[in-house]
Amino acid sequence: MTTEKQARPDVSMLDTPLSTAELAEAAAMATPQFGGAAIIHVEGLRRTFGKIEAVKGISFDVYAGEVFGFLGPNGAGKSTTINMLCTLLKPTAGKATLAGYDISRERSRVREAIGLVFQDPSLDDRLTADENLRFHAAIYGLPASVSHERRESMLKMVDLYDRKDHLVRTFSGGMKRRLEIARGLLHYPRVLFLDEPTIGLDPQTRLHLWSYILTLRQQKQITIFLTTHYMDEAEYCNRIAVIDHGEIVALDTPERLKDLVGGDVIRMTTSDNAAAARQIQAHFGVEARQEKGDLVFEIASGEELVPRIVEQVTPRIASISVRRPTLDDVFIKLTGREIREEEADTKERLRGRMRRRM
Ligand SMILES: Nc1ncnc2c1ncn2[C@@H]1O[C@H](COP(=O)(O)OP(=O)(O)O)[C@@H](O)[C@H]1O
Ligand SMILES: [Mg+2]
Repeated sequence: MTTEKQARPDVSMLDTPLSTAELAEAAAMATPQFGGAAIIHVEGLRRTFGKIEAVKGISFDVYAGEVFGFLGPNGAGKSTTINMLCTLLKPTAGKATLAGYDISRERSRVREAIGLVFQDPSLDDRLTADENLRFHAAIYGLPASVSHERRESMLKMVDLYDRKDHLVRTFSGGMKRRLEIARGLLHYPRVLFLDEPTIGLDPQTRLHLWSYILTLRQQKQITIFLTTHYMDEAEYCNRIAVIDHGEIVALDTPERLKDLVGGDVIRMTTSDNAAAARQIQAHFGVEARQEKGDLVFEIASGEELVPRIVEQVTPRIASISVRRPTLDDVFIKLTGREIREEEADTKERLRGRMRRRM
């Protein structure tokens, strides 16, 4: 175990979840200073499973104190990347350092520096909440006195203190996830990995969990690396790597990624979409595409242009709407596809259930 003693965040301060308004504020908070050295540095990381190339030689940096998100559909290579960075899986090629330690040559150092919440539930539900934490503390060699204090403060942080002596099998999905986060933080890691932390949870519980995650970011020196296929969640990250088929197709702040879309998104239903598309091309120089029977295109200052669009398009317009781009639009722009959340959810839940049964 490490004897390194550095200023650690006082996570016991996080004993009340944020309100929805505070959540939005925390998410909008200025991003941390990204000038410093990377806490995670990845170069050409690659992993194959037989003929499947799950991760195709990716490179990126994660800076201390940021919430860094991997956004991509099911099978994109998110978990495989996390598992390599957490030293649970050997890379086929490439290298990475975490807190300065090499993930292949200094595995125990790396493990001391990280906390991990797995994609699939990993608590022992025949034990109580506190027993689960005690077991983890023992694995990490925390002295009894320290362990007791940390467990109490972590359980308070995730609002489970009054349920600490209850069996985990009586907990809801959200409570279990919160307990896993508490466990991941018990040894005060510098980087917390959360693999699909809110998968399968209802929207309200997801929001609640995010309030914990964002409060944690405010505590200096905890870097959060998470994966998600929920577009709305990715909005809370400081930076997002969009990953598809084992490759990073874009990496930037949510705002700058949305700039890639090229303006506001206009969607209209007309009596002749092909003719309307030609007219839009001729007058505004943008290409409109057909989506589910609607005509969709992006244009700068869309709101101001709506009257002119209506004027220039001769087929009858049944409806027209303007909205700011979302990360969904970004994903479609970059990959030509949508991330299909429902499908992924169902598959993931099934997979989790199968694993638990086995
Ligand atoms: N242990 C494994 N054996 C074989 N194939 C795997 C294994 N783990 C992942 N894969 C494959 O690698 C690809 C990426 O998977 P994964 O990293 O789990 O994606 P994500 O987490 O983005 O959903 C998928 O095609 C998946 O089927
Ligand atoms: Mg995964």
